[in-house]
Amino acid sequence: MVDSIKLLRSGPLRGEVIPPPDKSISHRALIFASIAKGKSIIRNLLRADDPLRTLDAMSSLGMEIRDSGETVEVYGKGLHGLREPEDVINCGNSGTTMRLLAGLLSGQPFFSVLTGDGSLRQRPMKRIIEPLRMMGAGLYGRTGDTLAPIAVKGGGLTGIHYKSPVASAQVKSAVLLAALYAEGETVVEEPRKSRDHTERMLPAIGAGLRVEGLRIIISGGNDLTPFEITVPGDFSSSAFFMVAAAIIKDSEIIIRNVGINPTRRGLFDIMKRMGADLEIIDRRIVSGEMVADILCRYAKRLVATEIVPEEVPAMIDEFPVFCVLASRAEGTTTIRGAGELRVKESDRIAAMASELRKMGVNVTEYPDGLEISGPVDLRGTTLEAHNDHRVAMALSVAALVAEGCTTVQGVAAVDISFPGFYDRILELTG
Ligand code: S3P
Repeated sequence: MVDSIKLLRSGPLRGEVIPPPDKSISHRALIFASIAKGKSIIRNLLRADDPLRTLDAMSSLGMEIRDSGETVEVYGKGLHGLREPEDVINCGNSGTTMRLLAGLLSGQPFFSVLTGDGSLRQRPMKRIIEPLRMMGAGLYGRTGDTLAPIAVKGGGLTGIHYKSPVASAQVKSAVLLAALYAEGETVVEEPRKSRDHTERMLPAIGAGLRVEGLRIIISGGNDLTPFEITVPGDFSSSAFFMVAAAIIKDSEIIIRNVGINPTRRGLFDIMKRMGADLEIIDRRIVSGEMVADILCRYAKRLVATEIVPEEVPAMIDEFPVFCVLASRAEGTTTIRGAGELRVKESDRIAAMASELRKMGVNVTEYPDGLEISGPVDLRGTTLEAHNDHRVAMALSVAALVAEGCTTVQGVAAVDISFPGFYDRILELTG
């Protein structure tokens, strides 16, 4: 794929779009199927760089995985069926692959090493190394055991009570995966509820897991049963269309088959609060997750809002595109309690502040958030995606309402979560 794209101001978005399958659920389906006993079938798996890293990792741990195009079959060998990998496992850009696998590998009585690309090797790993060591695993990393590559020698785990300082589904899931192998009970508590796909999927396949508010209690040793799953569309990828339709005059689109799990759909509620014309239709349950179609129309008037820390986890991946929306809303939008954005695939606070400023937006940066004043008539210019798929797509949405021509550099990154993003945009804009 070419690494830069020129975009002109677009006419209205019209028609229907099917978003790519959910990334978080795709990773989990591959990992859980590998440690279940027998054949699992995954429908609508996301074939994008990040989950394909997880697929390759599971293969290097001895799993037989067959992709027929329509379905992916995983021949799980049970909790104790993984084998020592012959080489370092490269997680690419994928934080979910690295952190979830660190948890899984902590339960294995063999040696393994996890590495990743330049971005992933700069992201914080102490947050998983610490609790996994408390459970008894040997984990080591660069810079005082805080950065990848991470070397793991697992086995001999005991349950812990862990109060995570961050609301992170990756941390929570890493500890829960290790807990499947631990003696006794493990309790994980988070400060605010992060996405709960792991807690939904594991008990459905036989894990001894229950949720009590912000605490998850899990006991180790239970065999997992193989399963069939249909992965819903990704809310986070749908967010780009929701925002584009809200800010481009006369737009009206339907996004089909979107996962609307309450721990993921914060942006929907916030956009409604700002005056967006969004409607959830045909709500249904698919493979234990709430799914719907979302009707999105152009919003004549959007008003600024205040995002408070409690609202951050349920829209954590949507902030880059939310910043674009904020630049088109009347008044000053504030985002606080979102310091986690600084340790994503890029520093998303700095990235969005610098790129939106280039388009003429007045942005104030805080250590834990941003303040954005609008509405601004965005100016087309040359922008940089900061090696971050969501920044690339957010800036491309901004380009669609900007005056003149916008060049976005670094757009190859969209393949991390959404191959075909620009084709979908072209289809909708005719
Ligand atoms: C994810 C959790 C979130 C999210 C990431 C996917 C997951 O990260 O930002 O894109 O699948 O568990 P954190 O756990 O770091 O919040």
